[in-house]
Amino acid sequence: MTDPGGWTGEEAVGRRELQVARLLALQASNDIPGVRTLRARWLCSLLRAPGLKVGSGVRLDCSHPQLLGRLRLGRDVELGAGTVLDVSGGLVIADETTLSEGVMILTHEHAISDRSRHWRMQSIDARPVVIGRGVWLGARAIVLGSARTVGEGAVVGAGSIVTREIPPFAVAVGNPARVVGWRGRDARVAPSNAN
Ligand SMILES: CC(C)(COP(=O)(O)OP(=O)(O)OC[C@H]1O[C@@H](n2cnc3c(N)ncnc32)[C@H](O)[C@@H]1OP(=O)(O)O)[C@@H](O)C(=O)NCCC(=O)NCCS
Repeated sequence: MTDPGGWTGEEAVGRRELQVARLLALQASNDIPGVRTLRARWLCSLLRAPGLKVGSGVRLDCSHPQLLGRLRLGRDVELGAGTVLDVSGGLVIADETTLSEGVMILTHEHAISDRSRHWRMQSIDARPVVIGRGVWLGARAIVLGSARTVGEGAVVGAGSIVTREIPPFAVAVGNPARVVGWRGRDARVAPSNAN
């Protein structure tokens, strides 16, 4: 998996930590603020993701345990409420990237080409995804493994379905997501805490 520019995260999260983090994320009691804060701290440390902000009901998904992939989260990543991260194929989310509410990233795919066999009996393909630095995925956007990369500083509109690579600093919307504009030519990803 190629890393996006600006990566400063630690090595990928180990299998054990990832399993624990999955349980922690799944079993969280989201209505109690104290528990939520504690869970966010645990996840931050387990996932080696300094400054990680986690909304309620975030899921780290891996429906085929034999595929459990690598997860790398950068600094100051925000995962909005109800975000679903399928970690089975491998996933990188770089620094200062925000996933708004209900975003899904799907990193595995079922082969469907052989019509004589049920698709469940066909192969499962890991499809690693890299979300670059300073990206904003709007609410309920879906990123499929076929997208491979959402480039640094790109913005994906709410409800969009990303099926192909999105270049750096592009603004992409719709289903399938298409580039409809670009952030300013000289755009730099300003650190989110810079005022
Ligand atoms: C992608 C987004 C940032 C673009 O904002 P913008 O630069 O102001 O773009 P505009 O509103 O000028 O729209 C540009 C075009 O894209 C279309 N468009 C914008 N957002 C769209 C979306 N999510 N899905 C489909 N089309 C969209 C507009 O209809 C417009 O098309 P037109 O030129 O044919 O009229 C914004 O529309 C968006 O989706 N934001 C996400 C909101 C969100 O998730 N909020 C949660 C906050 S945590």
